[in-house]
Amino acid sequence: MCGIIACRTESPAIDYLLTALGRLEYRGYDSAGVAVQTVDGTVARLRTVDRIGALRAAVTAWAGGHFGNVGVGHTRWATHGSVSVVNAHPHTDCSGQISLVHNGIIENADDLRTALTASGHEFHSSVDSEVICHLIEDQLKISADLLEAVQASLLALDGSWALAVLEECSGRIVVAARRSPLLVAHTPVGQFAASDITAIAEWVDEFRVLEDGDVVELTDSGDSADGAAPALARCVWRSNDSELSGYVDYMAKEIDEQPAAAARLIDEVAGGIANGKLWADLGLAPFERLQVLACGTSLNAGHVIGNLVRRLGGLPASFIVASEAAGEIVEPHTLCLAISQSGETADVLAAVEHRTPAESVLALTNNSHSTLARRADAYLTCAAGPEIGVAATKTFVCQVIAGAALMISALVAVDRIAAADARTFVDDLRRLPDQLDAACVIAKYEVPRVTEELSSAAGFIFMGRGSGVPYAAEGALKLKELTYRWAEHYPAGELKHGPLALIGPGTPVVVVDNAEPRLAANVAEVTARGALVIRIGPAGSTIPVVTHPVAPWGPLESVIPMQILARSLGLALGWDVDKPRNLAKSVTVE
Ligand code: F6R
Repeated sequence: MCGIIACRTESPAIDYLLTALGRLEYRGYDSAGVAVQTVDGTVARLRTVDRIGALRAAVTAWAGGHFGNVGVGHTRWATHGSVSVVNAHPHTDCSGQISLVHNGIIENADDLRTALTASGHEFHSSVDSEVICHLIEDQLKISADLLEAVQASLLALDGSWALAVLEECSGRIVVAARRSPLLVAHTPVGQFAASDITAIAEWVDEFRVLEDGDVVELTDSGDSADGAAPALARCVWRSNDSELSGYVDYMAKEIDEQPAAAARLIDEVAGGIANGKLWADLGLAPFERLQVLACGTSLNAGHVIGNLVRRLGGLPASFIVASEAAGEIVEPHTLCLAISQSGETADVLAAVEHRTPAESVLALTNNSHSTLARRADAYLTCAAGPEIGVAATKTFVCQVIAGAALMISALVAVDRIAAADARTFVDDLRRLPDQLDAACVIAKYEVPRVTEELSSAAGFIFMGRGSGVPYAAEGALKLKELTYRWAEHYPAGELKHGPLALIGPGTPVVVVDNAEPRLAANVAEVTARGALVIRIGPAGSTIPVVTHPVAPWGPLESVIPMQILARSLGLALGWDVDKPRNLAKSVTVE
């Protein structure tokens, strides 16, 4: 979703702004813009409803004064107001003194707009963010100091914000955050603020994550805050982690990265599983039931993890779609496992905010500096590294592995699994990277053989039983996202209770075969009705990638051919597989 960059640099800011905006593209956006101070003291504001490439072209064509060393930039994912140049950020006040980029939602924007219009302000756009410019304009008439004017203006706002304000006459930049992530960094090449470390990882070794309510000026000596400076965090992602490195798209690269990412993660966690240390080190109270809270792919990973807790530990597990968490009844001694690769998903954050104090919240995230990691009682990273493709691939695999490792460790710690059994699971985990690698090789050979036949199919069914069901769900979700075709998943036994009516000659049915004995009868039911069955399972299947016996986390290898199938079909249909329509990587609105 929306991305922010602001900088004061040693050399022209525009180079940094455009590079950073390019790195933010993966979050999904429908317009982009920059405001840059020029050497003649004015601010050039360039915006587009096209890609960053178009913004770059507008910069090249700029015939005004040379660009200076101060600027702000933004990628917008429309929520309030249509996709148009006037609604693209940066926004400005009546005088043109203020250029502002904003992520978040100003809940009282309508009331503020009415009041500001009545007092003579002229609005240029229909977005909520613009009210902040006019509030700052009024405050500057009172104090003439940008930092004070921004601080005073924010008092009038309800809602959430990460924002950067550039003042034309002084070239000062003030940034602020409340319930929306923003980090600041002082580096040898200049000062930066960004909504996402990926944007600036190239230039940054250490950064600070702003706390709720912080208002900070970017100055040559670093950032001057109005409160205590939050702790420095170390940047562990490098910019070349987010390069294509010869791949045609990020999804292809990230699918291929899965075996190595799994191997790295397993090396990190394996030593703490059979002795219960991985769990004990989190310092959380023992739990008697697990509640998984997540959205989309992360929820699918949560189903795998919760099923494992049920089957291995005999503990109850429930699953909550984060956007529907309100009103959930939480029993005592519940561990809430909040899973989010970004750690910034608004639905998850809102649900966590309303947890009862009796419940411990454990975050499983790919971003240790995320709001979720900071709000939870403890967090575990899934350590997948940067994932740029909007459709989650390697983060899913790493969430499953990290979650399974942690839960086995927890079950050892509370004597629900014997250490000897846990050691067997560790051995299973250690074999996983090779199995994922083999799945990649087999799927790349087998999937193209079925893709052509499937490209005219209007809809798809994915089915599985037991530990295969969450993987069927993930396969269907990937297919929907990348092909824009209908795809539904079902526990295979459910088909005869209604969905079987959807099956006709040629209907594709993808079967996640975990060797559950009753699955054969369900496959026979759809075959008898003419379904085109693609069985992802053990040897002898259409795509034989599943190892036997199936591990406690189910047939994780099966997800790879389904990712490859979704990508291949998406490409065959002419879609952008890294940026599926209407979707964003980091979903920061409820
Ligand atoms: C699907 C996908 C989404 C996310 C969901 C939650 O490929 O990526 O379904 O899983 O939006 O996002 P996070 O994990 O960031 O909370």
